Amino acid sequence: MRHLLNPLDFTIEELDELMDVAEDIRLNPAKYAESCKGKKLATLFYEPSTRTRLSFEAAMLNLGGSVLGFSSADSSSAAKGESVSDTLQTVSCYADICAMRHPKEGAPLVASRRSSIPVINAGDGGHQHPTQTLTDLLTIRSLKGRLDNLTIGLCGDLKFGRTVHSLINALVRYENVRFVLISPNELRIPDYTREEVLKKNNIPFKEVTQLEDAMPEVDILYMTRVQRERFFNEEEYIRMKDCYILSKDKMELAKDDMFILHPLPRVNEISVEVDDDPRAAYFRQVQYGVYIRMALILKLLEITV
Ligand code: CP
Repeated sequence: MRHLLNPLDFTIEELDELMDVAEDIRLNPAKYAESCKGKKLATLFYEPSTRTRLSFEAAMLNLGGSVLGFSSADSSSAAKGESVSDTLQTVSCYADICAMRHPKEGAPLVASRRSSIPVINAGDGGHQHPTQTLTDLLTIRSLKGRLDNLTIGLCGDLKFGRTVHSLINALVRYENVRFVLISPNELRIPDYTREEVLKKNNIPFKEVTQLEDAMPEVDILYMTRVQRERFFNEEEYIRMKDCYILSKDKMELAKDDMFILHPLPRVNEISVEVDDDPRAAYFRQVQYGVYIRMALILKLLEITV
């Protein structure tokens, strides 16, 4: 039995196969409509979510399966002090697979050790968000036709943004990928990502503070919101929250074939006027999230269609 706790849990070959299945699902949804009949997905969300939880539920329903779960810690026995290990031993009696989001880094890993069903990390604190990364990889591959030979701009809260940490980890495995890391000094990528992931693998990268400087050179611009829930100090959040706002004016500096991604939710960091630009791909990215999660459920349940 396998879990998905970290984007590196799958080899590049497995990721390619997963994306191929997702693409086939996009083109032939009817073929998969009953592939999980009789199977149940549990969504265990100890933190708020719109896309991840609902896209997992949509994915399982699209596959002909059923869903159960909770959407906040308060509505589960976590509020009475139950551990994630005990919760997973319990949920293993009800469901065939589960997706867990938790504010504590490593909680899905701890849960997986006592689970007899596959556990999918749906976001753990400021650490990782592997299924967002699968979504991002599929989106980039679909839009650009490749995952190598790309300059990726990552902008915003690179310190707390778990989607950024996961995506960097995944993309460094592809040939000739370079990064432009755009953040205020206070929200730079964590040292362990800079030293252990980028420098150790000899990945070209630069860190800049001005979005305008990066716009002309990137093939993908991955915008992120400032993660209010990870700040210890509300004043500091307010000082940082609008550090980057992508506007129509700034889009004029970008390549014609550049694409904007964002894991969403958006707060202010992309003006709504940018949504009509054909290079704004963040709502297409949401749709790709359903296809890749369908493919992931099939893989972890070892169902071949
Ligand atoms: N991208 C993402 O994780 O969105 P939600 O927080 O709405 O699930």
